[in-house]
Amino acid sequence: MRTQMPSVLPLPLLLALLSAVTLQSVAANRGPYPPPTGVWNRIKKVDDYPVPEIARLAVSQHNNRTGNSLEYIRVYRGYVDGPFYRLFIQATDHAKARRYEAVVRDDLWPKMRQLVYFRASS
Ligand SMILES: *[C@@H]1O[C@H](CO)[C@@H](O)[C@H](O)[C@H]1NC(C)=O
Repeated sequence: MRTQMPSVLPLPLLLALLSAVTLQSVAANRGPYPPPTGVWNRIKKVDDYPVPEIARLAVSQHNNRTGNSLEYIRVYRGYVDGPFYRLFIQATDHAKARRYEAVVRDDLWPKMRQLVYFRASS
């Protein structure tokens, strides 16, 4: 016996599906890098959430990718542009505290934080 599929989805379900698809493609279409506006806005209080958390994640992802074992000390300067955080981080390689620059993409939906780059800073 064949079951008949309803030809029209209930409207609320249809709208929910459409907005999910739209949000997803918006997230995917924001290119990986560079940032949308190219204007880095200085973060006044880099000790405030979520900046230190993002900085720690940058160090952790960098360590995982490279096999290094840098240890996070602090973030001393930061900028934001759209979903991108550009953070200047002090970390130790267990010999000496050094300065690094990291860019992390922080997406709220779908929730994801991704290290874009991590490099030594002068
Ligand atoms: C790095 O690897 C460790 C050990 O596998 C894991 O616990 C941690 O979540 C990883 N960090 C990131 C940011 O992926």
